[in-house]
Amino acid sequence: MLVETAGDLLAESLKQVQAEIDSVFDAMLPVPQDASARLIEAMRYAAIGGGKRVRPLLVVSTAGLFGVNRDCALRAGAAIEAIHVYSLIHDDLPCMDNDDMRHGKPTLHKVFDEATAVLAGDALHALAFEILADVETSSDPFTRSELILTLGQASGMNGMAGGQMMDMVADEEGISYDLHAVTRLQQLKTGALLAAAVEMGAILGKVAPQGRAPLRAYARDIGLAFQIVDDLLDVEGDADKAGKTLRKDAEQGKQTFVTLMGAPKAREQARALVDQAIGHLSIYGAEADILRALARFIVERDR
Ligand code: IPE
Ligand code: IPE
Ligand code: MG
Ligand code: MG
Ligand code: MG
Repeated sequence: MLVETAGDLLAESLKQVQAEIDSVFDAMLPVPQDASARLIEAMRYAAIGGGKRVRPLLVVSTAGLFGVNRDCALRAGAAIEAIHVYSLIHDDLPCMDNDDMRHGKPTLHKVFDEATAVLAGDALHALAFEILADVETSSDPFTRSELILTLGQASGMNGMAGGQMMDMVADEEGISYDLHAVTRLQQLKTGALLAAAVEMGAILGKVAPQGRAPLRAYARDIGLAFQIVDDLLDVEGDADKAGKTLRKDAEQGKQTFVTLMGAPKAREQARALVDQAIGHLSIYGAEADILRALARFIVERDR
């Protein structure tokens, strides 16, 4: 691998982890010869190819700081990505954001149907915890249990699902959130899973909770910046590059940093958060360069 700049390092690392996660899912999702085949085909349609794989890269890069076996870190990365993919399948359903495009192709419910989309999401959700509970992810039962607890907390009522509820409620009831409420919404909806990715890398690395403070601070800041940029892309982005329909948040009454403070200020805020995130990594040397590059990518990305 010929790596010259931080951008090259990140592009190479993303490409590598994208290929690795695709092959982990490919191996885990063989299509059976019975009437359940449709479910597994739908899971494969959503889980293989297309995503940036930011969450698995966070797991692998954080675990890499502590010399964790890469295959174990990739399994934990695939678990969190399974949750992410399920959240997108459900997010795109007509009863939620009603989207037709995801990862540059028609959404799962358009290609299959809504019942299959609900079930594929359910099965990916279960798969995530099955992966983490498996001895192949870690030989240490305490590590496995901590991974499961962390991903469960980040996915459920005090994490992604809770944030999605706040998002939907604003949508449907015309509620007006202030900056504090939008920050909480975003931290739950998006920040919680990104934070869990970093945390899971540290758990695999057997870092004691008190030693995780700088990584947690880094993760909190990039998590918020990530959703601010997603909301900016909805307003300013190119749908072909993003691979999904844009310009929908305002029309659907979403409450975001962009609606609250306008695009220029929101971008400024995202940049400041990323600088702050990188600052939290000052105790680490060059071994954390991928995490630094990933933070910069979060504000500079166009997809
Ligand atoms: C999109 O996440 C949904 C949010 C939580 C903001 P990603 O930008 O990580 O989705 P991928 O890369 O297309 O899977
Ligand atoms: C979705 O946020 C976050 C999830 C938890 C899935 P968005 O609804 O803004 O994500 P996109 O823009 O559809 O990817
Ligand atoms: Mg949504
Ligand atoms: Mg959406
Ligand atoms: Mg969005």
